[in-house]
Amino acid sequence: MINLPGITDIKFPVFLAPMEDVTDKAFRKICLEMGADLAVSEFIASEALVRNSEKSFLKMEKSYPDETLVVQIFGNSPDVMADAAQMVEESGAAILDLNFGCPVKKIVNKGGGAALLRDLPLMKEITRRVVNAVKIPVTAKTRLGWTSEDLVHEEVALNLQEVGIQALTMHGRTRSQLYAGEADWEKIAEIKQNPDFQIPLIGNGDINSAEKAVECFEKYWVDGIMIGRAAIGDPWLFKRVRAVLNGEKFDEVPSIKERSRVCKQHLIATGDWKNEYIAVLEMRKFYSGYFKGIPGFKPFKIKLMEANSFEEVFAVFDEVENELNM
Ligand SMILES: Cc1cc2nc3c(=O)[nH]c(=O)nc-3n(C[C@H](O)[C@H](O)[C@H](O)COP(=O)(O)O)c2cc1C
Repeated sequence: MINLPGITDIKFPVFLAPMEDVTDKAFRKICLEMGADLAVSEFIASEALVRNSEKSFLKMEKSYPDETLVVQIFGNSPDVMADAAQMVEESGAAILDLNFGCPVKKIVNKGGGAALLRDLPLMKEITRRVVNAVKIPVTAKTRLGWTSEDLVHEEVALNLQEVGIQALTMHGRTRSQLYAGEADWEKIAEIKQNPDFQIPLIGNGDINSAEKAVECFEKYWVDGIMIGRAAIGDPWLFKRVRAVLNGEKFDEVPSIKERSRVCKQHLIATGDWKNEYIAVLEMRKFYSGYFKGIPGFKPFKIKLMEANSFEEVFAVFDEVENELNM
């Protein structure tokens, strides 16, 4: 069990991973409705937040009034991170997550994200300052190390525990791996096996089925799991995972009607929040996932990619429902 708001009584908590340009409030709501227990916001630059950038505030909006929102921030200045943390708390977030794992050059070159894996004293200092700056629980998400030659997962885990984080998420890859190879769950388990490590551990990396989710809990003893890429276009994965973790059988494949319904919900929520045109553009990256495995979908995908309004998109959904049986 993990003693964090929203999940204190959940035996096998399942998180939606933070993903830039994906885990906005529209997508988080869908995943939470499908069975994710907590969903993490897209990361927010602490520097932008303290400059009152409007975009940063939008990323902290809840998907519904009662959402137990986890907001993630990144940066490398203890002062700025502490100030940003207070702004996150004031915005109504329930949990604050610190990003020490982003491998992307534009972040790392400025000393943020995974760059902190090469400066553990600074990572610890940032965390200490943030924990002291807010009353809400602080968690952190990171990777195993910068490269496979300098793994620091256990050291990081103990350091951050010492300065007061309430849970640690470990993605089982190094920074230099980016997303290549496989997540190393044996290494994630090493943290759990360390007798000095007492706080909850959330494992992350390559969970793409209910069976894998069960394996992560059973074989690697994590307290929670976090799912990212596999949920893009397949939020039903959370339903399957939840059912199997509860010991129920669940192999239902979502019907075309259900896929269209969720796609529409995603589209309309994005439109309400941003605007119709942006929603139509942003949804283009999700269609392949939402209709994955449907024979004959390709020509409809082309039409969806060319559609420029809700009306046009919905007309294609109707065609898909009428012409493809499943
Ligand atoms: C498009 C995309 C955006 C991401 N953005 C973030 C982010 O903002 N913060 C973060 O901590 N990790 C981010 N990640 C990493 C994921 O949270 C996760 O750690 C990674 O994808 C591994 O999990 P998975 O195999 O379940 O996808 C991102 C990953 C992807 C694919």
